[in-house]
Amino acid sequence: MSNLKQTVEKIFEEKFGQNPQFIVRAPGRVNLIGEHTDYNDGFVMPMAIDRAMWIALRPRSDKTVRIYSIDFDVWEEFELNKLEKATGFQEYLKGMAWAIQEAGYELNGWEGVMTGDVPRGSGLSSSAALELATARAFYEVSNFDWNPKEMALLGQKCENQWVGANTGIMDQLISATGQKGYALKIDCRSLDLEPVTLPPDTVVVVMDTMTRHTHTDSGYNERRAQCEEAAKHFGVKALRDVTLETFKQHQKELSDVVMRRARHVITEDVRTQKAANAMKAGDAVSLGQLMNGSHDSLRDDFEVTNDALNTIVDIARAQEGCYGARMTGGGFGGCAVALVKTANAELFADKVSTAYEKATGLEPHIYVCEATEGASTLG
Ligand code: GLA
Repeated sequence: MSNLKQTVEKIFEEKFGQNPQFIVRAPGRVNLIGEHTDYNDGFVMPMAIDRAMWIALRPRSDKTVRIYSIDFDVWEEFELNKLEKATGFQEYLKGMAWAIQEAGYELNGWEGVMTGDVPRGSGLSSSAALELATARAFYEVSNFDWNPKEMALLGQKCENQWVGANTGIMDQLISATGQKGYALKIDCRSLDLEPVTLPPDTVVVVMDTMTRHTHTDSGYNERRAQCEEAAKHFGVKALRDVTLETFKQHQKELSDVVMRRARHVITEDVRTQKAANAMKAGDAVSLGQLMNGSHDSLRDDFEVTNDALNTIVDIARAQEGCYGARMTGGGFGGCAVALVKTANAELFADKVSTAYEKATGLEPHIYVCEATEGASTLG
């Protein structure tokens, strides 16, 4: 973490000849369970992780934003009162500026440098991290209060209406409100947050398959539309409002595909609430089984896994000390997550790495991750 802080600080000095006035960061996340439930007003259980987007900056006296991306080795510049859509990483900054201004806040310009270690398209919410880091940068140079939930909603608006990915609220909300040492059970309708801890002697291991997605052209928007179709059939606002019993009584009225999409969401909400109870009881075995059930449902009913995710999850589950494993995030590639006995974590990572590389020819990135705090400013 401090590594990237030093990097943005040093490159800022190189580019601007002085120290930055502010250094802001916003984390990526791993979701333990509750996948594709957020846009159905359901429950999710993410934690903010020790991988983040970092911006070092100083205010400007005009309405220009100028940013150097260390990762892309490129400068971008835009005017706050003349925002036009284009393509590239800067769209997340522009979209965020657009959303905050749309909410009625006056923004000031700034300039700075950015870098991050949340791999793009890996299911760890690199875009939400960039959106929230951008919001935090504007907060530091403008005159509005930092309301994490409001900033998360504006991040979602940027994603939906500026970038064009019809995503839910989970990623922005956890990037804005994450708590050190805790996962958060989130009710995506009320946006109520409940901190929960991992069972004793367990760690969360992220397993990056090194395959990638983009949610603007994956099947993400299609999945969301299918869920909305199912909710409409049941005459409710969102699938959150359909109980398992009601679903079973009426499932035959839906087409096979829409029935399976709805079944995933409805059963996933039940699993996520049970998972929160398992965590409160310190019950790693039950939590692991629920994670396994989540993956199987995402694979068979929601159909958002790929071969790489299924392979790494199967390998993980076969290792000693693994309570459960599943894909995490939107799917169609990216990362899986496993709950592993602390004492076994190192060997687990080695063994999964070797077996996955042997099976696929891809070299995975596997690491234990810590729960961190949400978007913040560092001295
Ligand atoms: C992506 C979206 C989230 C959520 C997950 C799936 O990460 O950004 O809103 O829908 O996929 O759970």
